[in-house]
Amino acid sequence: MDSRQREEQYTLATYNHIRFPISLVRGEGNHVIDDEGRRYLDLYGGHAVCLLGHCHPRWVAAMRKQLAELVFYSNTVYFAPRAEAAELLVSHCYPSMAAVYFCGSGAEANETALKIARKATGRKLVVAMEGGFHGRTLGALSVTGFPRMRAAFPENAEAWTRFVPFGDLGAVQALDPSEIAAVIIEPIQSVAGIRTAPASYFLALRDHCRRCGIALIFDEVQTGSGRTGEWFWGMHHGVEPDLVTTAKGVGGGFPVGAVVASDALAAEVKPGDQATTFGGGPLAAAAIAATYRIIEEEGLVERVARFSASLRERLASLEGRGVREVRGLGYLLGVECDRPAKEVQARLMEQGILVGTSGEAQTFRLLPPLTVGEEEWEIFLGALEKALRE
Ligand SMILES: Cc1ncc(COP(=O)(O)O)c(C=O)c1O
Repeated sequence: MDSRQREEQYTLATYNHIRFPISLVRGEGNHVIDDEGRRYLDLYGGHAVCLLGHCHPRWVAAMRKQLAELVFYSNTVYFAPRAEAAELLVSHCYPSMAAVYFCGSGAEANETALKIARKATGRKLVVAMEGGFHGRTLGALSVTGFPRMRAAFPENAEAWTRFVPFGDLGAVQALDPSEIAAVIIEPIQSVAGIRTAPASYFLALRDHCRRCGIALIFDEVQTGSGRTGEWFWGMHHGVEPDLVTTAKGVGGGFPVGAVVASDALAAEVKPGDQATTFGGGPLAAAAIAATYRIIEEEGLVERVARFSASLRERLASLEGRGVREVRGLGYLLGVECDRPAKEVQARLMEQGILVGTSGEAQTFRLLPPLTVGEEEWEIFLGALEKALRE
């Protein structure tokens, strides 16, 4: 049995439908290398995680140093890397944000945000968007707007949520606000195929939540930490949530999640309200601090804004030649094609390029490291034209 067969035999079957037919052994910058020595340009970024590319030398050095000094201790003690990670995350988030809670994943961050909002408001219902994705644990799943993912657990996952169409403010306003603790929203719905709503909708939603005492939660698990060309998505439009959840790239590849709370909501969180053993451990904290320092010092957010504008233009020029529509912002893009995305993905993979598919059958996603630049995009565009001609 080769290692792929062994993996399939000894792990639960949950991922068998999405696995790429490759086995990776190494990552170098914007590339990954498989067990046959083939190099792939990674425009999938390990599923929107590897913001700095693979094995960024400064990130590796910071992690090596931390590994040699202190691998783990829980939240029962203080240590400097956690203080640094917290300060960096809060200071790069929205102006009204005051404090962070560290955990291990995006789902856990959303679970925590829902708890904070429910306790602070004393209300039980949450409004969530059709097509929004917030994770697979029961609490996160309960606000995930894909009925097929909740179908096996209707009692656990649907009782306390009111789903409304994304972008429909009237549907939120029609609900009795005195029962609603929070509105949770993914500013750019990624799994749904890169869908967003006008800035005016988000501003009006912000206003409605403020007037009705509802906590507005932005799930920035994908849109956070620079991916859209701003540190956090709402900064494009001057719209601030009360709670931000983030994960994926925030640790540069190390598994971390975080909830950042506004001044007002942070004041409502009391000792014992939430806890997790591994959240904000030394390695996790060192990973976050290194990632944020590198993004800042290498000007990666500005770089995304610069390169994505010309990439969008070039992709738009393929409309009518295999591309139907290009959606998204910065380095979170969806390309809707005139054929199944899986087919385009396979043809790009044959040419040594990895991209993601999405919940929408004809849309593939670009979720690359922020370090990808002009040279890589030229290679990708040439390969895409070829894939669409075939
Ligand atoms: C927007 C969004 N929120 C939450 C999650 C869940 O994060 P995790 O898989 O780390 O639990 C994801 C994962 O894809 C996501 O894309």
